[in-house]
Amino acid sequence: MRDGIATDVLNDYFVERAKGGVGLSELSQLIIKPSFGVHQADWEYDSARRFPIQNKAEVVPGLQKLTEAVHKFGSKIFMEVSSWIWIYGPVSSMPFETGLELREITVSQIREIVERFGEASKLVKQAGFDGVDLHGTHGAMIENFYSPATNRRTDRYGGSLENRMRFLFEVVDAVRSAVGDNLAVGMRLCADEKVENGVTPEYAAKMAELFDGKIDFVNVGTGSAGYFEATNQTAHQSEPLYVLPGYGAVASASVKRSAKKTRVGAVGRILDPLLADEFIRKGFADYVGMTRALIADPELPNKTISGKLEDIRPCIGTLQDCWGRSVAHEWPMRCTVNPAVGREGERGVGNFKSATTKKKILVIGAGPAGLEAARVASQRGHDVVVYEASSKIGGQLNLARLLPGRADVGGIVKWYETQLKESNVRIELNKRVPADPEVIRFLIDEEKPDAVIIGTGSNARKDGLQMITYREVSGWDSQNVYSVDEIFSLKGKIQGEALVADSTTYVIGAGVAEWLTKNGASKVTLVTPHPHVAPELSNYNQLAYVTERLLAASVRIVTFSWVRRIDERGAVIYRITEPGREEEINVDRVILHTGRTHKGTKLKDLFSSLVGEIYEIGDCIYAGNTIRGAIEAGYEVASTI
Ligand SMILES: Cc1cc2nc3c(=O)[nH]c(=O)nc-3n(C[C@H](O)[C@H](O)[C@H](O)COP(=O)(O)OP(=O)(O)OC[C@H]3O[C@@H](n4cnc5c(N)ncnc54)[C@H](O)[C@@H]3O)c2cc1C
Ligand SMILES: Cc1cc2nc3c(=O)[nH]c(=O)nc-3n(C[C@H](O)[C@H](O)[C@H](O)COP(=O)(O)O)c2cc1C
Ligand code: SF4
Repeated sequence: MRDGIATDVLNDYFVERAKGGVGLSELSQLIIKPSFGVHQADWEYDSARRFPIQNKAEVVPGLQKLTEAVHKFGSKIFMEVSSWIWIYGPVSSMPFETGLELREITVSQIREIVERFGEASKLVKQAGFDGVDLHGTHGAMIENFYSPATNRRTDRYGGSLENRMRFLFEVVDAVRSAVGDNLAVGMRLCADEKVENGVTPEYAAKMAELFDGKIDFVNVGTGSAGYFEATNQTAHQSEPLYVLPGYGAVASASVKRSAKKTRVGAVGRILDPLLADEFIRKGFADYVGMTRALIADPELPNKTISGKLEDIRPCIGTLQDCWGRSVAHEWPMRCTVNPAVGREGERGVGNFKSATTKKKILVIGAGPAGLEAARVASQRGHDVVVYEASSKIGGQLNLARLLPGRADVGGIVKWYETQLKESNVRIELNKRVPADPEVIRFLIDEEKPDAVIIGTGSNARKDGLQMITYREVSGWDSQNVYSVDEIFSLKGKIQGEALVADSTTYVIGAGVAEWLTKNGASKVTLVTPHPHVAPELSNYNQLAYVTERLLAASVRIVTFSWVRRIDERGAVIYRITEPGREEEINVDRVILHTGRTHKGTKLKDLFSSLVGEIYEIGDCIYAGNTIRGAIEAGYEVASTI
């Protein structure tokens, strides 16, 4: 969206999914605009930038183009319509997180909002959508009315369940009379708010008895009590990989038991068509929704229909580049494992440009960068061979998957294994390419590559150098100091106490600390110079889980601190915010993590006089980058050779 107007990028995203066999998709969200409001944080400017707003008829042509494009592929599309308490004021008076008290909205304001829902739905119909999905979760106003946690009203909109649902029914009536009978009208329901006095699956089942038959469908979700991040509830709206696939089953099944006419949909890490099938067969839902599974692989439905389940590119569930970018930061959405997301027009299915000249390509290193380069190059018609130093493909992902609760990160390695097996890529395992001119010449004689892609990754550093103190930690070269790469080799051999000092901003230090507790360490201390662990995370992705897991594993977290020195007894740490305050921590092992370092340019230099085209990708240029950075680099280079 740009200024609330649908763009070609948005169209391409939805068309890609329609082409991939998706039966019904949904665009989020048309925001209604009453004449009054709290105007928190320039909401109108912010929201109008990202979402269509109901009082702007100029949003219609762009949306019309979108619905027409999607319909061409036999797919349907609904529009989510929403109203937010942080825009208009709360259902019941409550201080916002700033402490500012906002008065509860009045009955005449409620009437106006209901009317606006009707007007918004007319735009939805005009734009050619097939249905209206009323946003009734994630802290939307409808949820704030029906939830006992947020509705403290004593008038006809509060008190009993019937009263709390009155607003919803008034909105449904307004929408139905605006769109007629040919459009589906339904809602998103939060069936487990996970807060005291909030909606539970049992409460949602009672609600379903009342709305059954009044709405066509109900899209059941979990986990949300409102806007405030402090409650951590935003984390539960789209659960990360720490939560099992299909986590919404209890909630949807509970609603399904009560709803006889209204169609019940389930969501929640339904990543696998077989799990989706089980939901329907076992009666947990009438249909399933997949958000992340279809971000990662828009062709999931078609691949399922043609029985190619092993070809489905798996969502790894870290929320790093979808929710973690778009919702947390308002950056364009991307996907860790699918470099085509947000660029479907250029990179989408069928848009691969075959190579004009077939070349022999030598890829060195089978981390995500090298694997993606090999996949794309081969798909474009090149002859590809991969040399990998270790006994398996995956690079650092083989360590990433060892962090407790993060095995799903390894799912993408398995996918590459299948994809490369199906293509003509030859993988040579246990074949390190050394920086030795003679071996390089021999290799070139043997493979005769026209192009070499170097994706040899990086090494974790353990000297403690970073841009906080600008120096190494004294004593870093002691016997008892390990890098994050080295520590995993001690699996099953860890005893005694350990200290993890991590100045980086992602989950690695926290994950290693938890791993140590699960692999024999009697006590673990985690030191970070930041105000909290893994500051790059937010409640929109994994933070709530990472901190909860550290507490459950009894890891002592020391913030605003760093390591002064290390010796054979352990480490001395100091408080950055309290000059002079030091603490000696006696431990058997210190794991120092301040980032990674690339493996040098020697290989590139050696190949440069012998091969016409040489590329470096991934961590071997930008050490300490991400999975997406690596995959993206592999894609980019391989799509241009
Ligand atoms: C514990 C841990 C957890 C992580 N978690 C995440 C996460 O959740 N999200 C995220 O985005 N990122 C994460 N990362 C970072 C991510 O794994 C890396 O950014 C990514 O793997 C880099 O990919 P790459 O292909 O460039 O390099 P690598 O993954 O390092 O792969 C390089 C490959 O080249 C091989 N190789 C090296 N030298 C040679 C040679 N001379 N000849 C032949 N082969 C060679 C290596 O054996 C290796 O297989 C994590 C990293 C670690 C260590
Ligand atoms: C990037 C992203 C954006 C989302 N935006 C919305 C939204 O605007 N409205 C909404 O109702 N749900 C939104 N959701 C939540 C999903 O609809 C869904 O309920 C949740 O992700 C769980 O389903 P999944 O496991 O299939 O992803 C979003 C999810 C993701 C990952
Ligand atoms: S960014 Fe991560 S969580 Fe989101 S869809 Fe892609 S793989 Fe899944």
